[in-house]
Amino acid sequence: MKSIKLLFTLLFVVGFISIGFGQGEITGSAHDFSGGFTWNTNGEICNVCHAPHNNKAAVAGSPLWNHSRTTETFIMYDENVQSGTMQASLEAEPLGVSKLCLSCHDGSINLGAFGMTVLGADSAGINNDRMTSHALVGTDLSNDHPISFLYDAQLVIDDQNGASNPQLADPTINPVLALLSGTNTVECSSCHDVHNNGPSSANSLLRVDNIGSLLCKTCHLK
Ligand code: HEC
Ligand code: HEC
Ligand code: HEC
Ligand code: HEC
Repeated sequence: MKSIKLLFTLLFVVGFISIGFGQGEITGSAHDFSGGFTWNTNGEICNVCHAPHNNKAAVAGSPLWNHSRTTETFIMYDENVQSGTMQASLEAEPLGVSKLCLSCHDGSINLGAFGMTVLGADSAGINNDRMTSHALVGTDLSNDHPISFLYDAQLVIDDQNGASNPQLADPTINPVLALLSGTNTVECSSCHDVHNNGPSSANSLLRVDNIGSLLCKTCHLK
């Protein structure tokens, strides 16, 4: 009897530890705007980006979107500037999901520009609540890791450039597949989890802990 009790206690402790420390969550993360922001009068977390009703726009992969979206024109990754050897074909502009991130991270829209309540009028936010910190990515993406391109089996072949050993991991299976966005494209959300559900020790909301560059090595066979 005693040993059964002990077993249950142990199971409970192990379970508690894995819930408490195994995964991050949005509460308390950089994307928890529930406290300290004068524009977030209802103190909710999800509401800044999603609303249960009357959402602003349908965006593939991001249900019930509730935040204003950027209308900026972006400069995409440029292999000539970076002296790269990209084989992938980039879209002319960031695709939908990445544009959602850029709607705050390009600095053009107030963080508080979201539908405030389920029935209330939209808030334009406060003019000085735009992103200015280290987290400002801006509209020039030419010096950032390329986004918004198809990562498929053909790209792996093209990227080999005639050599026998692949330089990119197979995108049709996990772990790479799980990092790709809706139509198997690489987006901001390939590396970041906006809800901070990644490993506990990671900073920057990373999907894969980048100690030893494990995130990079998930896709790049280097
Ligand atoms: C800072 C903006 C932001 C906040 C805050 C936010 N989300 Fe999201 N959410 C996104 C984006 C962007 C996507 C689509 C891309 C992705 O999944 O990374 C998304 C996708 C989702 C999805 C569909 C895909 C999936 O991951 O299951 C659900 C469900 C969701 N969010 C629920 C929530 C809930 C519940 C909350 C509050 C606890 C919340 N979100 C807070 C930005 C946000
Ligand atoms: C989700 C998969 C994925 C992850 C994670 C990833 N990359 Fe990439 N990366 C790619 C793909 C695919 C390309 C395009 C390769 C091509 O077209 O030849 C690329 C392109 C690049 C390029 C440009 C290559 C060139 O020839 O111009 C560099 C440099 C690079 N990645 C470095 C990194 C680093 C550093 C990390 C970690 C911080 C990383 N990548 C994480 C998939 C990924
Ligand atoms: C509603 C506005 C908003 C949206 C939408 C949004 N972010 Fe953020 N994000 C912020 C703010 C504000 C910060 C915190 C800036 C600071 O620390 O000063 C932040 C911080 C971050 C950080 C840094 C975290 C850290 O540990 O310092 C990353 C990475 C990030 N966001 C990625 C994303 C990605 C990827 C998306 C889309 C999937 C996204 N964000 C969507 C507003 C947003
Ligand atoms: C290939 C992977 C990859 C992609 C794609 C990617 N990021 Fe990141 N990002 C990282 C890594 C890794 C870090 C952490 C860098 C570090 O700690 O030095 C980071 C850091 C950040 C930070 C924190 C900056 C800081 O100085 O603390 C923000 C904000 C951010 N990314 C936003 C974005 C947005 C927005 C997009 C899409 C436009 C994006 N990222 C696309 C890998 C990526």
